[in-house]
Amino acid sequence: MDMHEHEILVLNALASLSKGSPHVPAFKLANISECSGLSLDSVRKAAGLLADRAYVKAHEQLRAYHTAPTEEGARFLKQGFPEERIVKKLEAKGGRLAMSELDDEEKRVGLGWAKKNGWVELAGGELAIKGRPALASYEQHKFLERIAANNSVSAGELESAKLLISRNLISEPKPEKSHSLSMTKEGLDALASGLRPSYNLTAPTSRTYPAKLHPVQRTADRIRQIFFELGFEEMRGPAVESAFWNFDALFQPQDHPARELADTFYIEGEEPLPKGEVVERVKKAHQATWKYKWDEAFARKRVLRTHTTAVSARYLDKSMHEKREAAKYFCIGRVYRNEVVDFKHLAEFYQIEGIVLWEKTTFADLLGLLCEFYHKLGFEKIRFRPSYFPYTEPSLEVEVYFEKKKAWLELGGAGIFRPEVCLPLWGKYPVLAWGLSLERPIMLANDVEDIRSFYKNDLAWLRDFKLKQ
Ligand code: PHE
Repeated sequence: MDMHEHEILVLNALASLSKGSPHVPAFKLANISECSGLSLDSVRKAAGLLADRAYVKAHEQLRAYHTAPTEEGARFLKQGFPEERIVKKLEAKGGRLAMSELDDEEKRVGLGWAKKNGWVELAGGELAIKGRPALASYEQHKFLERIAANNSVSAGELESAKLLISRNLISEPKPEKSHSLSMTKEGLDALASGLRPSYNLTAPTSRTYPAKLHPVQRTADRIRQIFFELGFEEMRGPAVESAFWNFDALFQPQDHPARELADTFYIEGEEPLPKGEVVERVKKAHQATWKYKWDEAFARKRVLRTHTTAVSARYLDKSMHEKREAAKYFCIGRVYRNEVVDFKHLAEFYQIEGIVLWEKTTFADLLGLLCEFYHKLGFEKIRFRPSYFPYTEPSLEVEVYFEKKKAWLELGGAGIFRPEVCLPLWGKYPVLAWGLSLERPIMLANDVEDIRSFYKNDLAWLRDFKLKQ
C-alpha cells in the first residue's frame, strides 16, 4: 500500500494519543500536530488522504461564533453608552437638564435608548430622570463587555447579539469549527500490519550541476585512450616554436606561402636551433632539392606552432638520438593560425597528430590505422582522397560520410613523410604521419554547427551539452 510518510506519522500519533483508552477517542488536529511533529497544514492534508482510505474518521464540531467589538463598540466600552452618559449627566445636575446640554451623539443615539429603557422623560421642554435607572446592570453594556473578553458568542447568544449588530457595536458573528480525528478499525488493522512509506522517486527536484569536463577535453581524453590502446606513446612539444621545427625540418622552403604573416603568428625574438648536425642535414636537403640559399636566421624565427607536426619533427630527431628502430607516437595539442574567425574557423584549435616510425611500415598500414582510429571513435564510413603537403608523399585527406547531411566531410591530412624529412631527422625511412582535427568530429557527432560554441564559455550551453559519442 502506497502511503505518504505523513499519513503514517498521523496514524502513529493517533495510536499513541489513544493508548490505553477502551473506546476510540477523537483528537483535535492541534494535538495530533503536536504529537506527530507535523505542521497543522500537513496534518490536515494527511487526514484527508487517511479519510479517503477509511483509516480515520474526521469530525467537525461547531465551537462558537467569532465576533468582536467594532471601533464604536470599543469606544462605548470606554466612555459608556450614550444613553448611560445622559443618565450620569442628569444625576450630576440633580435630575433635570436642558436639551442643549446633550452632545451630538447623546441626542442622536442616547436619547432614544434612554427613553426606551424608561430612564428619562421630557417635561416642560427639559429632560428629567425617571425612577432609579440601574446602570450597573445595563444588559447591553454587560453583553458587549463579555464579547470583548472572549471575542466570541455561543449559539444561544446569537439572538441577543442581533441588537448589538444592528447598533454596529460588534462584527457579524462567524461560525468557528473545530476538527478532530479518530482512528477506525481499518486504520488500527493497517497500523498493526506494519506500514512503510512509499517515496516518489520521479518527483521533480531542482537540478544540480556537478563538476564536469569540457566536451573538447573529454574527447581529447578518449582519443588519448584510443592511442594508448593501439600501443602509441604520447609526445609533447612547445606551443611557442621555432620556424625550424615548424617549417624547415618539414622540408617547407623558406619562401613557402604558409610561412607568410597572413597565415602564421610570429612572435618577437628568436628560438635557439637544435645542437648537433640536424640543422646541417636539413639545410642540405633544402639546398639540394629546392636550389636556394637556406638562411639560418629564418629558421630561428619564433612562431606559434601552426600544426602539431612540429612536435613530430622533434620526435623524429629524438628517435635518432635514442637510436630507435621503431616507434609510434601521438600528440593532442593546440595550434595557431592567423585565420579570420567564423563558424568553421578559429585562430586556435586542436590537432590530433601521429607518427609511425618503422622501415617496414607501408601505406596500407597508414590507411588501416586511420580506419581503426575513426571506427573506435564511432565513425564507420571513412574514405581517403589524394592531397598535397610539402612534407608527405603520397599525401591524403581523410573524409567521413556524414549521414545527416549526406555528404563527405574532411577530418584531416595524412601521408608518408618524404625521405627529405625522414632521413635528416631520423636517418631512416619511411614514417607514417597524420594531423587531424579534434573539434570537427565532436561537431559532427553532436550537431554543433558553429565551432565557436566550444570556446564561448557559455555556462548554460556547457551545462546542457551531452557528448553523444
Ligand atoms: N599538418 C597538416 C595540417 O595541419 C596535417 C598533416 C600532418 C598532413 C601530417 C600530413 C601529415 O593540416
